[in-house]
Amino acid sequence: MKIPINIPVLGKEEISAVNYVLKSGVLTSAAMNGGKNVQEFEGLVKKFVKSKYAVAVNSGTAALQAALYSLGIKSGDEVIVPSFSFVASANAIASTGAKPVFADVLQENFTINPESVRKKITKKTKAIMPVHLYGHAAFLEELGELARKNDLGIVEDAAQSLGTTLHKKYTGTFFDLGCYSLYPGKVMTSGEGGIVVTNNKKLYDKLLMIRNHGMVKGYDSKIFGLNLRLPEISAAVAKVQIKKLPKFIDVRRKNTMMLSSELSNLDLQTPEERKGEKRNWSLYTIATKKRDSMLEKLHAKGIGAAVYYPIPIHKIPFYNAKSSLPNTDWATKNVLSLPVHPKVSSKDIEFIVKTMREIVNG
Ligand SMILES: Cc1ncc(COP(=O)(O)O)c(C=O)c1O
Repeated sequence: MKIPINIPVLGKEEISAVNYVLKSGVLTSAAMNGGKNVQEFEGLVKKFVKSKYAVAVNSGTAALQAALYSLGIKSGDEVIVPSFSFVASANAIASTGAKPVFADVLQENFTINPESVRKKITKKTKAIMPVHLYGHAAFLEELGELARKNDLGIVEDAAQSLGTTLHKKYTGTFFDLGCYSLYPGKVMTSGEGGIVVTNNKKLYDKLLMIRNHGMVKGYDSKIFGLNLRLPEISAAVAKVQIKKLPKFIDVRRKNTMMLSSELSNLDLQTPEERKGEKRNWSLYTIATKKRDSMLEKLHAKGIGAAVYYPIPIHKIPFYNAKSSLPNTDWATKNVLSLPVHPKVSSKDIEFIVKTMREIVNG
């Protein structure tokens, strides 16, 4: 593809950071607090999202697992999650032994519908996992209210929303636990990687143990854990990337505004921030009935448009759950994401706009 949907933006600084770690010979640390680069990266994350604590792990999936384990989610429990997400959201729940219960989304921003969540709450429900899909903030006020009334935990799947704020507060920091992914398709990367943030000291102490087989000093596992440690090379890359993140997000915003000023005149649903929301524009996602033919035509022109996600999780063979989720079904058939990452130039945007006009009007 001439213009891929998302690519990591890596420079000389990342290369020297990796070289530095390699020369040091210290590639990881099994100490409870992690290696030097891991700790420094966590410090930068805390400062960035304004959380009290941050624990770096080796994927966004691991971040979700660690968060759920720290809440004590287990077999027999239920966790409510949108079916319209990447399968990792549900898989992390399934890995605890709990049952993912699938809720519907809202057509306006593709995030979990609080009303659908309310209907799915049972005696077994222990937590809600809202997903800030595409970097769109979920309806956190309403979800918070439901959680308070029903004594539920909230794990924010902020894998795609690092940098998105709602009323100046970072997504991922609203409730008990927030989880980010550092996969290369995200707004910043460490190759593979993830972060859990929390303001709760008890959960933080547990997370440190969970990252490291439940150990404190070595061979003394106090609780269940796994090897979820982030390698030092990845942490060194992440340290550089998080310093560049505000710039990356600015370019995404600029590209988004250029796209929207033209595409909003066409017969399409274009993405719009709601009041008080400032998105990281992880993905620029439109909705159109002509999605499949549009995708084909964009690909023919070298524009790496992509569908996130063509199958709702509840219909994936492993889950095969019998749920009626009409907005989820609608979304899987109508959404299409267009490239806005920092390597997309103004010329590229003009080309995308011209191509989209031809497709929609012609
Ligand atoms: C919504 C969502 N949840 C969870 C994940 C899992 O993150 P990772 O791929 O880093 O394990 C991703 C990213 O792929 C995601 O997009």
